[in-house]
Amino acid sequence: MRKLDKAINIEDLRKMARKKLPAPLFNYIAGGSDDESNVDGNTDAFDSVKLVPEYLVDVANIDLSVKVLGREISMPLLLAPTGMSRLFHHDGETAVCKAAAAAGTYYALSTVGSTTIEDVAAASDGPKCFQIYVMKDRSLTREFIQRCKDVNFDSLILTVDIPVAGYRERELRYGFTMPPKLNLAGLVGFAAKPAWVYHTLTHAPARLANVAHKIPQGSSQSTSLMKYIASQFDPSVSWDDMAWMISEWGGPFAIKGILSAADARKAVDIGVSAIMVSNHGGRQLDGALSAFEALGPIVDAVGGQCEIICDGGIRRGTHVLKALARGATACSIGRPYLFGLAAAGQAGVAKALALLRAEIERDMALLGCRTIGEISGKHIS
Ligand code: GLV
Repeated sequence: MRKLDKAINIEDLRKMARKKLPAPLFNYIAGGSDDESNVDGNTDAFDSVKLVPEYLVDVANIDLSVKVLGREISMPLLLAPTGMSRLFHHDGETAVCKAAAAAGTYYALSTVGSTTIEDVAAASDGPKCFQIYVMKDRSLTREFIQRCKDVNFDSLILTVDIPVAGYRERELRYGFTMPPKLNLAGLVGFAAKPAWVYHTLTHAPARLANVAHKIPQGSSQSTSLMKYIASQFDPSVSWDDMAWMISEWGGPFAIKGILSAADARKAVDIGVSAIMVSNHGGRQLDGALSAFEALGPIVDAVGGQCEIICDGGIRRGTHVLKALARGATACSIGRPYLFGLAAAGQAGVAKALALLRAEIERDMALLGCRTIGEISGKHIS
């Protein structure tokens, strides 16, 4: 793990992940849709405001804790749902949820994860959330809710921004398809990383663990991974379905993928506990608002009526502080922890969380804030 010690920021973990992963997989994590303008755009959007520090505040003790989705977490950063983590490291979601629990924060398991709800529950006693995509087989949604109740997950997230799959051109360029049908670029990408190939071949194959029993795994036609997954989603999901899920679940419930104030109002009217402001990491509608751009109008519309989580582009503690100052309750990350996972499994995820925690803490001291509650609109300009 000596190399991991050398990582001094999330960008270093990204470079380490790039070295470890076959190119089709690195590009699956790093890529977005169409021209990918939202991938960097989510991060760049934080440059549109500047921080305004206040000094001569006693910042000897800083408390990063905050309450989100029914649980107190140790810092204002959650681990957002991401698909198929076992592709990036054989320990996959188990490594991620353990690192999240050790760091005292929330882990969200995805419907398209490669570890079961039950295995994540067994691996972690930390705050846990399950993210639902409504599949064409509607009985699965009821099943997910029951399984999450049975193993005491804390909350649910419904992701709403995949009525159809975004156009992920990197997946097509590498022939990264389901079933796998790599083209030359894809094959070269895997051949160049024998260590990854060895670990993968010596562990159980990654599969869509929570839905494998319901969806056909084989198909005569190769489609991009995302297209394959999305072909199983139900594009007719509506607000009524969400209202049903909220009442069926009966606990903390978030909607993920909201960018408009009008949708935020509908979500509050229907009774969500939290809104995750997100453009799906730039992987769905290219050219949509960034999470940070969308955050302000959503806070103005529904701030104080539910929790608001800013999801997208977070690479620095200062990004978190800007989002909190604009009214977010907390932020969430996807790629940063996946880079850590690919770089070094659980230790890499822990490293990503430790780096961001240290940045948030240091930046709060530099900003003159001792608690998350003290961060407010006066701290940005
Ligand atoms: C899955 O949600 C993805 O964006 O790949």
